[in-house]
Amino acid sequence: MAKYKIALMPGDGIGNDVMDAAKIVLDKIGLSADYVHADIGWEFWCQEGEPLPERTIELLKTCDCGLFAAITSKPKEEAEAELCPELQGKGMIYRSPIVRLRQRFDLYTNLRPCRAFKGNPLNYRDDIDLVVFRENTQGLYAGVEFHPLPDDLRAKLEDLSPNMAAFEGVSSEDIALSTRIFTRAGCQRIVRQAFEYAKRYNYKTVTLVEKPNVIRETSGLMVREARKIAAEYADIDLWETNVDAMAMWLVKNPQDYGVLVASNMFGDIISDLAAQLVGGLGFAASGNIGDDFAVFEPTHGSAPKYAGMYKVNPTAMLLATKLMLDWLGERDKGLALQQAIAQVIAAGKVRTYDMGGDASTLEMAEAIADHL
Ligand code: NAI
Ligand code: MG
Repeated sequence: MAKYKIALMPGDGIGNDVMDAAKIVLDKIGLSADYVHADIGWEFWCQEGEPLPERTIELLKTCDCGLFAAITSKPKEEAEAELCPELQGKGMIYRSPIVRLRQRFDLYTNLRPCRAFKGNPLNYRDDIDLVVFRENTQGLYAGVEFHPLPDDLRAKLEDLSPNMAAFEGVSSEDIALSTRIFTRAGCQRIVRQAFEYAKRYNYKTVTLVEKPNVIRETSGLMVREARKIAAEYADIDLWETNVDAMAMWLVKNPQDYGVLVASNMFGDIISDLAAQLVGGLGFAASGNIGDDFAVFEPTHGSAPKYAGMYKVNPTAMLLATKLMLDWLGERDKGLALQQAIAQVIAAGKVRTYDMGGDASTLEMAEAIADHL
């Protein structure tokens, strides 16, 4: 019997192209695993009104982890218009399946390593090695939002917050409210993950990226909890930086930083910035990690204009595969894959279009597999 059961979720568009690349590499690496296909994406929204069918959730519950590629999503009206005729006009609402997977399986850590591979012509610098830990379930992206502002909520806010005076005379129709909710435990667990990772992989600093001087309560809670946790790690320094300044420092001196940790939205933004420093979407992978389940993915989307052309860079998908191997405890295999990717990039002979070459997605995956 195979040691692992892994769900493969190619999704839409180039998701299929890069998943084929991952299969080439997984075959070569010889992991003892059964791979099962799981339905996810636009096609299932159109046919069933559900981009993340319940059968997929049930299947995932029987797996050790999931490897996801990319999905297509569209704004509300367009999504409704593409539903099959029987499902139209029923008030169905499209909700991002990857966001729902994170919530459903409490995948509270979003791990995004951004490491420059030597010889990548897209590097901003060659000496960047950043790892972003983004809180994945709370904060501004938790979906607790209102428009118009409900009367009872407004009354309560006026009662509790002197700052509400600024909205006197403004109709509730003209007020939208998105909440930023942090829990103490939520802050603790993401910061803990960041420090544990720094310890395991020998990073000397963890930088907390928040804005406590302005967002006093939520960022403030995160800072206080981070300081307590940092005190337990004598060999790792906690640096505290405001998110706006961090954007500047990441462009100025990205090589100075190691592990970064941030709440959901700030982590989302700085991780995209960090990804671009090391080659952009073709190189950016992430892990959505909970206590006993995880889903790994490239951070790019379905890039419809390249769908099925086997033209895009498979590296992000293969780095997601590497993160999966590490998380499963197969760190030798993870390291071997990373080294194979590094060798192909350094040699510079097999490059996809984004790196200025003309190799296909699968040619690049095969070149990497050849180095395994
Ligand atoms: P995208 O990430 O799909 O592509 C944007 C552009 O980046 C592409 O046109 C291409 O030039 C480049 N690119 C992306 N992946 C690449 C790769 N592996 N190699 C080389 N170049 C690459 O973002 P876009 O166009 O904004 O969104 C397309 C669809 O994907 C939308 O429906 C969007 O909602 C969805 N999306 C899904 C995500 C996910 O599955 N997690 C994340 C982002 C977008
Ligand atoms: Mg993002």
